[in-house]
Amino acid sequence: MSTPRVRGRKIIINLGDFSVFSSKGLMQKRKKIPLSILLWRFLGATVFSIAITCFFFVHHVHVSTTSKIHHKKFNEKIHTFRDLQSWTQELDLLHLSKDSVSASKLNNTRGITELNYEKLWKPPPNHGFLPCTKPSLNYTTPGNSRGYLLVHTNGGLNQMRIGICDMVAIARIINATLVIPELDKKSFWKDNSNFSDIFDEKRFISSLADDIKIIKKLPKNLANATKMVKQFKSWSGIEYYQKEISALWNDFKVIQASKTDSRLANNNLPLDIQKLRCRACFEALRFSPRIEKMGNLLVERMRSFGPYITLHLRYEKDMLAFSGCTHDLSTSEAEELRIIRENTTYWKRKHINPTEERSKGNCPLTPKEVGIFLNALGYPTRTPIYIAAGEIYGGESHMTELRSRYPFLMSKEKLASIDELEPFSNHASQMAALDYIVSIESDVFVHSYPGNMARIVQGHRRFLGKGRTVSPDRKALVRLFDKLKNGLMVEGKKLSNKVNGLHQGRVGLLRKRKGPISGTKGVDRFRSEETFYANPLPECLCRAESSPI
Ligand SMILES: *[C@@H]1O[C@H](CO)[C@@H](O)[C@H](O)[C@H]1NC(C)=O
Ligand SMILES: *[C@@H]1O[C@H](CO)[C@@H](O)[C@H](O)[C@H]1NC(C)=O
Ligand SMILES: *[C@@H]1O[C@H](CO)[C@@H](O)[C@H](O)[C@H]1NC(C)=O
Ligand SMILES: *[C@@H]1O[C@H](CO)[C@@H](O)[C@H](O)[C@H]1NC(C)=O
Ligand SMILES: *[C@@H]1O[C@H](CO)[C@@H](O)[C@H](O)[C@H]1NC(C)=O
Ligand SMILES: *[C@@H]1O[C@H](CO)[C@@H](O)[C@H](O)[C@H]1NC(C)=O
Repeated sequence: MSTPRVRGRKIIINLGDFSVFSSKGLMQKRKKIPLSILLWRFLGATVFSIAITCFFFVHHVHVSTTSKIHHKKFNEKIHTFRDLQSWTQELDLLHLSKDSVSASKLNNTRGITELNYEKLWKPPPNHGFLPCTKPSLNYTTPGNSRGYLLVHTNGGLNQMRIGICDMVAIARIINATLVIPELDKKSFWKDNSNFSDIFDEKRFISSLADDIKIIKKLPKNLANATKMVKQFKSWSGIEYYQKEISALWNDFKVIQASKTDSRLANNNLPLDIQKLRCRACFEALRFSPRIEKMGNLLVERMRSFGPYITLHLRYEKDMLAFSGCTHDLSTSEAEELRIIRENTTYWKRKHINPTEERSKGNCPLTPKEVGIFLNALGYPTRTPIYIAAGEIYGGESHMTELRSRYPFLMSKEKLASIDELEPFSNHASQMAALDYIVSIESDVFVHSYPGNMARIVQGHRRFLGKGRTVSPDRKALVRLFDKLKNGLMVEGKKLSNKVNGLHQGRVGLLRKRKGPISGTKGVDRFRSEETFYANPLPECLCRAESSPI
């Protein structure tokens, strides 16, 4: 078995989850309230507890009619919320007193006023843009296949997902038959799931039938054929694939892509190829029915609490180790993370100055910082928040400050019983898929770091015209956090205005995808572009008038 491995160009940067973007941003804190308002406070608190009780009641009824199987366990979990003393202590008095003064503005007894609905929950206007993914008139069904494209994806779920969609486009460009991709089983996440464990394979194959041929396995007679194993050049354009890669068909029947992250340029590709990427990612590539089902159940349970935020809290060990961000961590935690980084060969940056990274806006927000941020944006303390994440680094110890501001923190583990989650729980990518579904469906999506998940969820939500998608301006925010810390500022109206001002344009508005940052060159230039899947406009979103469907 001596298959010659022909190496492609050496690629130094493994961008994947970790390309770094800058941001800015900010926060607010509780107001000091004069004695004269104390009575109002008390009244407000009373009204609030009644409202909460009502909504749990509504919830009970709801769950028992929709999901019979495990509702008992679920309800038991919810009971514990009712007991939470912190609920009544953590009331956001400003919002509450408004609610109680004008009860007519209450929306569904869930405390959503017209005023704060507009400001906090309303999806950005779509200006008549709708998905437009149909190919042009001269698009043909796939011609004769020149050979087979085998694909080894790399990275976590969302990096693989983006990579798979790119490989669909690449297969089209080089006239290849795509073999169902192999998922990465060796990434940090160590998930042994196969493609069909995560994705709906049948749908993937059939819905792309007019674009490329897809088969499940390499034909038997080619099992021993010499493969060309190649790491495609990062961010390549159409010429690279049409000329350099297609030329390999002259000598090989099978090309194997050894990596899938960022192999295709974001921009300057034919319109039909861009539309194909959207069809692949936003239409053809669905999660397997059992994942969809469980994901939808989680969505239903979150919705029963009213409008909810999904917070992609990228505060997991790998992220912190990779980024070298140690703000607010203990020395021993920082040391543990440093060792992981030293020991992970495919992370090339070993020496990182955490203070510098943070001030450049490159660090994920800490859970505490996210709490200050959401509070400054004006989200009331009782807002239901779904935490979309793997294991939070340090567990509860790093969550207490976020939880004290927002006691209604939910997660897969809280919303579902152990039995319900069991089929997924040893598979990081399947768990991430559940988070993906809840994220797409949420009224508001907020991330703490713009990695692959944040980007593709943002793009998918733009594509579907769903809800608000808040991207914190981390660079500006950390300056404000530091001012708070140093006593140069306090949480309150001023901070709140500042944070809201900074984020007016960061709520998922429709706009054209950003090109490269001027002055950047080479690989940095590509890296500085907005990711295609984070914003498929203009190619896959068109104004109704100009695109008859
Ligand atoms: C309640 O909120 C929904 C969105 O969740 C909105 O469409 C509706 O107009 C609101 N109703 C009132 C009475 O404010
Ligand atoms: C249709 O074909 C023409 C000529 O081959 C080509 O220039 C054009 O880009 C194609 N249209 C699209 C949308 O790809
Ligand atoms: C792929 O096939 C089409 C039509 O069959 C042909 O026009 C095109 O040149 C082929 N491309 C490559 C890279 O072989
Ligand atoms: C994935 O497929 C391989 C080969 O078919 C099989 O050995 C393995 O058990 C599968 N993994 C899972 C988690 O089903
Ligand atoms: C491929 O090679 C293996 C052993 O190297 C052999 O057992 C098998 O029969 C071969 N298959 C084909 C189709 O030639
Ligand atoms: C680094 O990784 C190797 C192999 O995975 C392991 O044996 C070693 O203990 C690790 N070193 C540290 C300091 O964690």
